[in-house]
Amino acid sequence: MILYAISDIHLDYAENRDAFESLSEYPDDWLILAGDIANTESHLRFALDIACRRFAGVIWVPGNHDLWIRSDSGMSGSVEKYESMVELCREFGVLTPEDPYVSWGEGEAKHILAPLFLLYDYSFRPDDVSEEEAIAWAMEEGILCRDEALLKPAPYSSKQAWCRARIEYSKKRLSEVSGPSPIVLINHFPLRQDLIRLRKIPRFSIWCGTKETESWHTEFPVSVVVTGHLHMRATDYRDGIRFEEVSLGYPRQRNQEIEFKDFLREILPGPKEKFYLNEGPFWRWEG
Ligand SMILES: [Fe+2]
Ligand SMILES: [Fe+2]
Repeated sequence: MILYAISDIHLDYAENRDAFESLSEYPDDWLILAGDIANTESHLRFALDIACRRFAGVIWVPGNHDLWIRSDSGMSGSVEKYESMVELCREFGVLTPEDPYVSWGEGEAKHILAPLFLLYDYSFRPDDVSEEEAIAWAMEEGILCRDEALLKPAPYSSKQAWCRARIEYSKKRLSEVSGPSPIVLINHFPLRQDLIRLRKIPRFSIWCGTKETESWHTEFPVSVVVTGHLHMRATDYRDGIRFEEVSLGYPRQRNQEIEFKDFLREILPGPKEKFYLNEGPFWRWEG
């Protein structure tokens, strides 16, 4: 029984849909889909349908691309879209950040799986740049995330306000977890700024998370943190806790000779010894 994770499968790309469909069956194992699965409901349905037929259990959290609102979406904003995606997941029995956390594994190997949706608040910026100046600061280097046009937080007044509400909701729920089992935190966005290594576009960091979660891995009894968003596959450790970045990424960013199954990251039981990873051959972000 293995808990696998992958994120950023971006099924809007036919190559990624074909690759995902190529997965064989893992009847005893679970799969975490850690956001940026698809822009459209039909592609999310495609993902959930395949994942649920191949795996014993599936967990989903949203990424920023999942929340994009296009003019033909017929939705009032990203909050409504998020709620409709949660409903779709429930149709398939897929766990979301709105469901009770589940325990996974047996005996001493038992863990609590906590899917989160925390968003970002532009706080991954230098101290001398204010929140109001953050986007202009990124744009000085020609960087502007498409979320600024397509991620619409209404009825929240801003993405920061939505992020704050998500942090409060998640913190309260995590603080209510009791018992000896450690928690696996699952979120699309990285929880710590020091895990972001976007060497070519460092100012993209403002769209990558919130400083509010910097110490959640020690504040709560956490064993592993699973995230995506960076398209920068890695395994890191902070304070002895394992942080897994599990992105697949766009077709142009990955080595097409590597099969999709080899991009599935084993979260649990996980490596027996500390294992650092920065998957060069998988990854082409640096050109
Ligand atoms: Fe992505
Ligand atoms: Fe993302």
